Amino acid sequence: MAKLKDKVCIVTGATSGMGKGIAEMLHAEGAKLVLSGRNEERGNDLKAKLKGSVFVPGDVAQPEYNEKLVKAAIDQFGKLDILSLNAGILGLGNVVELSVSSWQNTLDINLSSIFYISKYAIPHLQKAEAGNILINASIAAYKSFPNHPVYCATKGATVALMKQMAVEYAPKIRVNAICPGPVDTPLIWDSAKAFEDPEAAVQNAADATLLKRLGTPEDVAKLALFLLSDDSSWITGTAMTIDGGILNA
Ligand SMILES: NC(=O)c1ccc[n+]([C@@H]2O[C@H](COP(=O)([O-])OP(=O)(O)OC[C@H]3O[C@@H](n4cnc5c(N)ncnc54)[C@H](O)[C@@H]3O)[C@@H](O)[C@H]2O)c1
Repeated sequence: MAKLKDKVCIVTGATSGMGKGIAEMLHAEGAKLVLSGRNEERGNDLKAKLKGSVFVPGDVAQPEYNEKLVKAAIDQFGKLDILSLNAGILGLGNVVELSVSSWQNTLDINLSSIFYISKYAIPHLQKAEAGNILINASIAAYKSFPNHPVYCATKGATVALMKQMAVEYAPKIRVNAICPGPVDTPLIWDSAKAFEDPEAAVQNAADATLLKRLGTPEDVAKLALFLLSDDSSWITGTAMTIDGGILNA
């Protein structure tokens, strides 16, 4: 039986990478989706593929856009059960090089957006049978990488915010995070551009895992489905690593 039949979910970062993989998985399990992303062409293509979905393009760094996403769920489907929050950028550059505007923008997209959408969504999630928030953090919450100061800072803070919201909104709403290692999405290839040989840099990341490969959006979507379904009904306030063993290598 479908694990998320008629659950209404907002999925951010749905036009690419892991967010797209998660959206496809949730749809296959019967969920009704509000898809969020910046790229209108990709968003409209996905909406056409995932029948019955709504696509609302915009910038998660803007509080009003987050309010609009929640409104779209209520207007279109009459309720809201799940948030799957995947929008994120790298904001590369060491502390000396990084511009103040890049710091602020990355903070807004990776961290403040989680506060914004939760603020508008939680009153509706409290009315749901099993309200659920799943945030895509990163192993960067625990392991530091050169040139990623704002990324590491926002992912660490994301885990702290997830735990705080789990405490505040239990038992009505479960709140968890996933912490992926290197996953084969456009983001990892963007990150590799900083290296002389990007292909070798990505291969090195795969080789550094115990399981000797990059993760796939589908690997991550399977964990997301577990955490968003009743299969994990006694799990809240947890940040689950999915990293091919790289943190333990
Ligand atoms: N790829 C990895 O190796 C990796 C590892 C750990 C964590 N993550 C995290 O996973 C999440 C998804 O990343 P991905 O790897 O799938 O990358 P991706 O670049 O394929 O997807 C990122 C998504 O975020 C959206 N986005 C970015 N800025 C936005 C904005 N201002 N407004 C609205 N949407 C915006 C993009 O449109 C895109 O859909 C991110 O939070 C990322 O930090 C990625």
